[in-house]
Amino acid sequence: MGGMDVVIMAAGKGTRMKSRIPKVLHALGGVALIEHVIKVSQALGARRQVVVVGHGSQQVQAALAQHPSLLFALQEPQLGTGHAVQTAAQHLPLLTLAGCTLVLSGDVPLIGLPTLQDLVAASAGEHLTLLTLKMSNPKGYGRILRHPEEGHRVMGIVEEKDATPLERLIDEVYVGVMVIPNARLHRWLSALKNNNAQEEYYLTDLVAMAVGEGLEVHTHACADPTEVAGVNDPEQLAQLERAYQGKVAQRLMRAGVRLADPARIDVRGELEAGEDVEIDVGCVFEGRVVLEAGVKIGAHCVISNAHLSADVVVKPFTHIQGESVSALITVGAASQLGPYARLRAGTVLGAEVHIGNFVEIKNSTLGVGSKANHLAYVGDAQLGDRVNYGAGSITANYDGANKHKTVIEDDVHVGSNSVLVAPVTIAQGGTVGAGSVISKNTQAGALTLTRAKTISLAHWSRPQKKSTNKASS
Ligand code: UD1
Ligand code: CA
Repeated sequence: MGGMDVVIMAAGKGTRMKSRIPKVLHALGGVALIEHVIKVSQALGARRQVVVVGHGSQQVQAALAQHPSLLFALQEPQLGTGHAVQTAAQHLPLLTLAGCTLVLSGDVPLIGLPTLQDLVAASAGEHLTLLTLKMSNPKGYGRILRHPEEGHRVMGIVEEKDATPLERLIDEVYVGVMVIPNARLHRWLSALKNNNAQEEYYLTDLVAMAVGEGLEVHTHACADPTEVAGVNDPEQLAQLERAYQGKVAQRLMRAGVRLADPARIDVRGELEAGEDVEIDVGCVFEGRVVLEAGVKIGAHCVISNAHLSADVVVKPFTHIQGESVSALITVGAASQLGPYARLRAGTVLGAEVHIGNFVEIKNSTLGVGSKANHLAYVGDAQLGDRVNYGAGSITANYDGANKHKTVIEDDVHVGSNSVLVAPVTIAQGGTVGAGSVISKNTQAGALTLTRAKTISLAHWSRPQKKSTNKASS
């Protein structure tokens, strides 16, 4: 069997999305529709991938810039699916006659690898082969025409708009995915005509051409309708999103993850989870998230780009916002976060760290066993081990122009409601008195405080309201 080239059609307008964003760039599971298709065709071992772009071509090409091996074919105007593949073929001057071309649609995101492998196998590398589906409501789809006898061999495909009332009763449809032998591809494409109801060049007309040349056309029936479901409007997109999330939840549970409710988890990227991971309802995972064994995630957390080590406990309503899949926030083993904690980009937490409610950490490192339990801000800081960072304290890291670093060494206690004005170092074992503003480096082991002394006047009587004759109102 020769190599497999893939053409991904993505030039259509997608009018019914009613959106400025080209249809194939709408997100499913946090990833553009067309990215799903590219991923599966790469997994299939595609020799070359050609994306046919038209409407919003610049946006689509820009969005796919991280795939340098993709080839783009600009189809303008869009004269039908046959014309789309023709355009792609013109951009494949080196296309060898060996092997086959697989045609996919950029707006059919959930097509599965096993299905495509079966389809390719059914082609045996040389037969025109169609992916088909039996549908109770086949309206709008191209119908598979079969010979009444002769083993019911395939005779052609008729589009809904060209079909007779009798043909419209056929419930076997073409789902828009076919394998074409390269040896015939160019000749067939250049013979396409647009004498049909839509005045388009139909790729589906290749079927009758093959039959006319006495060739056998193969089919492979798809078992799962969601695999071949297209996205045409926001409602279909939302339905497919649920189907996708359902599959993700199923995969997680099969790997041992305990989900409080598989219908109430959203994974917009990649979630990797070890054994005895528990996830409560309403959580969203984005980018790349790794949860090691025994991690527990409370309800309604949003976790992006993070690696949580074993036995970390994240309490409800915590927001972890790692910057990107290549810059993960890391949380050490058995740490406890939340409820209502916020970890921003550049956070690195050691083991057994506690971050409590309404504490924001940004671009900072906290050593083993350090704690910031209430209402605090830690930014551009380096905290050693066993630091206790008091309620309401903040690192004043920004002077209005530049950001500066705060260093808090091992075993320091920062009293409540303190401001550490960076750049500043609180040396090992030191204590900062509550309510202090620290703008100078401190000595190891020192107590440093800047607040006014407490004055207490005994038997103090508060001012009294002067009495008047007017009736009080
Ligand atoms: C097509 C099939 C139909 C099948 C259906 C499955 C043809 C003629 N008909 O019909 O038998 O049942 O898919 O969904 O192939 N596109 C381009 N350039 C064009 C036209 C379309 O790139 O000039 C792209 C679209 O963006 C889309 C895909 O091709 O991704 C399919 O086009 P669409 O117009 O949806 O085809 P259907 O009419 O649904
Ligand atoms: Ca369609």
